[in-house]
Amino acid sequence: MTGQFTQDAPETECLLDSMRQDVIGKPLVRIDALAKATGTATYAAEYPVKDCLEGVLVTAPFARGRITGIDIDTCLACDGVVAVIDNEKLIARCAQGTAGEAPVQEVRKVAYWGQPFALVVAETFEQARDASKHLKITIQDDDLSDIPCDPQAVEPENQQYSSQGDLPHAMTEAPHSVDAKFTTAGHASAAMEPHAAIAQWDGQTLTVHASLQMLNYNISELADAVGLEENQVRIVSRFVGGGFGSKLGISAETVAASLAAMQLKRPVRVAMSRQQVFQCVMRRSETSQRMRLAAGKDGTLQGFGHEALVSNLPDEQFAEPVLQSSEFLYAGDNRLLTLDLARVHRMTAGSVRAPGEAVGMPTLEVAMDMLAEACSIDPVELRLKNIPDRHPMKGTPFSSHKLAECLQQGAEAFGWDSGLRKPRQRREGEWWIGTGMASAARVHNIAKAKARVTLNPDGTALVESDMTDLGTGTYTILGQIAGEMLGLDPSNVLVDLGDTRLPRGPGSGGSWGAASIASAVYVACKAIREKLTKYANVTEGELNLKDGGVEGGASFAQLLGDKELREEGHYEPGDIEDDYVAAGFGAYFAEVRVNAFTGETRVNRMTGAFGFGRVLNERTARSQCQGGMVWSIGAALTEALHFDPRDGHLVNCDLAEYHVPVNRDVPELEVIMVEERDPAASPIQAKGIGELGMCGGAAAIANAIYNACGARVRDFPITPDRVV
Ligand code: MOS
Repeated sequence: MTGQFTQDAPETECLLDSMRQDVIGKPLVRIDALAKATGTATYAAEYPVKDCLEGVLVTAPFARGRITGIDIDTCLACDGVVAVIDNEKLIARCAQGTAGEAPVQEVRKVAYWGQPFALVVAETFEQARDASKHLKITIQDDDLSDIPCDPQAVEPENQQYSSQGDLPHAMTEAPHSVDAKFTTAGHASAAMEPHAAIAQWDGQTLTVHASLQMLNYNISELADAVGLEENQVRIVSRFVGGGFGSKLGISAETVAASLAAMQLKRPVRVAMSRQQVFQCVMRRSETSQRMRLAAGKDGTLQGFGHEALVSNLPDEQFAEPVLQSSEFLYAGDNRLLTLDLARVHRMTAGSVRAPGEAVGMPTLEVAMDMLAEACSIDPVELRLKNIPDRHPMKGTPFSSHKLAECLQQGAEAFGWDSGLRKPRQRREGEWWIGTGMASAARVHNIAKAKARVTLNPDGTALVESDMTDLGTGTYTILGQIAGEMLGLDPSNVLVDLGDTRLPRGPGSGGSWGAASIASAVYVACKAIREKLTKYANVTEGELNLKDGGVEGGASFAQLLGDKELREEGHYEPGDIEDDYVAAGFGAYFAEVRVNAFTGETRVNRMTGAFGFGRVLNERTARSQCQGGMVWSIGAALTEALHFDPRDGHLVNCDLAEYHVPVNRDVPELEVIMVEERDPAASPIQAKGIGELGMCGGAAAIANAIYNACGARVRDFPITPDRVV
């Protein structure tokens, strides 16, 4: 049986509202927390598989050219080596394409330094790694001096252009304007769990334990890559140690392990080294951007221009969507938005947490700070003044909009001083102290989702989907949704995820995971409740469920006998997305100290206020916001991929050289969740939250640095050398 819900209109009545709400929204600890913290959760590489061979990927030591020959004899003669897999499928798939798309890089044509081209398989990992050093290749590399590695040095392709009114004219006429250039560095996803896969082939079915975000389409990617039908492939991904975009699509380890297992008829494990993850999975593009803002005397925006240049490999489709929030965040009649893409030979650029906003919002929000100064207006006030009623270009309404509330509540909690702001006003010893703020905005996405819910007569329930949990809390919130809807303690709801044999979920990506899959579970539970009304002979309004039965009435066992109730919930976004702009909004406030002699910046404290619809679990929601704010600190101060201009190789490819914030870099992060229900966003009235926390936060820090010491740095990350 199926419950179906296609969202074509705002869902003004949500059943959850009429429930007692003693489960939904509550700050339950993640049910997988203990297993993860104590090391008993089984990650992809850890599945106990008998007789498993170990594969080590071999990668190209040059950035552009052709592999004309591979001599495997020396390698094969090494101790323990079983095979060298260098077939064309592997080489083709290892150039990871845009998630969900077929690869576009040509066989044996190397397009970036570190591109995998072969797999050495041995009895032990050490043997495979050692032998991989003995693989000889002949290459025909293109003239190194000619490698276009620098996005500034090539002629870009235009990807997006939209214009309204006359921006240059508005800039000349306006009493106040800002015209500033920015750069942001490339980022690595740097998930805690490196990419790994174990593949088993029984002659009929390929079973792969992997670490992936989107099983719903990873299964077709993998089937396509190895030449099988989807029904011959099973992917299991029950625990994922973070993804942040790097596990949206399948990568070399999953394909290589699968091809090797099929060829050798033995299980094969391929675990990437941290360096390989950095070098060949995916990167966030570096950007260069120009912001133009024109305002009247009172700070009302009249012109808004945002132009960006990003990069990717030749023929890849993805272009970091830098302008995503610029389209709708602020008013201004004269607008110009352009996005250009430079083709360079650096590894594939793809989605890294908050693709677009993570680097577009910081520049926009620094420009707004510059405009506030030019207009002598408080930066919070400037933003409040420029919140549009509707999408400034399309004219569509917002589904809900809490930016003003976020700005106000955040400012109050932080203790924002709205007096006239001037740099270099506060010094403690050798540290300049300053404060800064920025808005947050991130489009809300929602995706098709299926889940199966079974209510058992003994007062337990089972929720099943191939949805993944990247550490975000999916297992826990789905137990909460079903628990609330069916009157069960969440400890009596078993949630089974991460297996393609289960109904197709939405996957974890684009911040749509929780709202989409929770909606499918909600729809399934609604269908179960409908059945229960018949058994209990009451109307939906009269059906109060509690403690495994009707409140003050029959238990499920008494109602159902020995029969279970099972329903699939199907949720589809429908065409509501065309009628509304749906987005999460927020505001960040930061206080920093900047060392007057070294330029070192430390974040003293940070507050974020966010509006993202219904909160499904206060603890996991807060963690998502804090995680985003932590990455904001990294993007503001330390995180940058560095490519060697001589040969295009990634220089800093581990966590010692690519600096993510550690505990000592992160102060207490205050999170305010602004009360909101968004009936157009999803039937449970929740919006995406996973990425909102890092959509602009870096600007609050940059603006605080300016306020502290007067250094207006427009190149991210703001390393000490750029401050002094
Ligand atoms: Mo996200 S960058 O879609 O994991």
